[in-house]
Amino acid sequence: MATVLVTGGAGFIGSHTCVELLAHGHDVIHFAARKAVGESVTIPLEYYHTNVGGTVTLLQAMLDHGVHRLVFSSSCSIYGDTGAGLLDESLPARPTNPYARSKWMCEQVIADAVVRRPELAAVALRYFDPAGAHPSGLLGEDPRGAVTNVFPLLVQVAAGRRERLQIFGGDYPTPDGTAVRDYVHVVEIADGHRIALDRLEPGMRVLNLGTGVGTSVRQLVAAFAQASGRPVPHDVVDRRPGDVAELVADTTLVQRKWGWRARLDVAAMCRDAWRFQQRHPEGYPG
Ligand SMILES: NC(=O)c1ccc[n+]([C@@H]2O[C@H](COP(=O)([O-])OP(=O)(O)OC[C@H]3O[C@@H](n4cnc5c(N)ncnc54)[C@H](O)[C@@H]3O)[C@@H](O)[C@H]2O)c1
Repeated sequence: MATVLVTGGAGFIGSHTCVELLAHGHDVIHFAARKAVGESVTIPLEYYHTNVGGTVTLLQAMLDHGVHRLVFSSSCSIYGDTGAGLLDESLPARPTNPYARSKWMCEQVIADAVVRRPELAAVALRYFDPAGAHPSGLLGEDPRGAVTNVFPLLVQVAAGRRERLQIFGGDYPTPDGTAVRDYVHVVEIADGHRIALDRLEPGMRVLNLGTGVGTSVRQLVAAFAQASGRPVPHDVVDRRPGDVAELVADTTLVQRKWGWRARLDVAAMCRDAWRFQQRHPEGYPG
């Protein structure tokens, strides 16, 4: 079985270990990135440096060492404010913030490299909103520093580790005014990567990983309160710069090409994230 180099530990891209591993002919899954939309508006150059620069460095290192298989963590934020219903891969990109633009640029960098080096086999997986934890309760999210994704914030509020959840924007053109996202279980995202490694072929492909089901932040809060049996106190505050009203996947292409289909719903994501929280009340150090 092939060994896979996974980027994502701080300082790993371009490091000695990374190049050593590449030298042994591994596949690469490139997760490493800065990923906070709001922060990217404040420090855009850092985002381009890490996300785009890191991807260029990694691709160069791969080519230098005869490594040709790449799975790239892309993002649905690339679609931006389309006003469309379900988002399919043929839509033009309209990123609305530097984070999303950096992911779009990375996709273009990879596509250009593939034109020049047709032996490269790459796929950009456009994740929608990964959420949840492994159902065993052993593996889950334990973010350090500023937490910007709504799901881990919800968990922390329900657990009493934070007082209240801030919901950014209550005046979006959505049924309840809060932003709608397509939450997809992390286990199914992981499965998408396993299939990607099995199915990589020369050239570049772009595929959505989502469920096709939209959930508003208010609906998510209600689902989490139900799963945890705990209240989730919250306030609706101003919109966050760079955010869009709605992002929901059209998953036709990935179903057709790979037979990948997400089946777990938001209730399962909430249940599994809460189980991890209960088993690890203080995160991993605890
Ligand atoms: N979580 C989401 O909602 C979401 C959605 C779409 C796409 N993605 C993408 O998925 C990937 C993983 O996201 P995540 O949610 O696990 O985020 P994360 O912040 O937990 O993981 C990103 C990792 O990249 C590392 N990193 C940052 N800069 C680096 C650098 N210069 N060199 C080496 N490592 C560096 C960080 O230390 C971190 O471990 C990212 O590329 C992100 O853009 C995430």
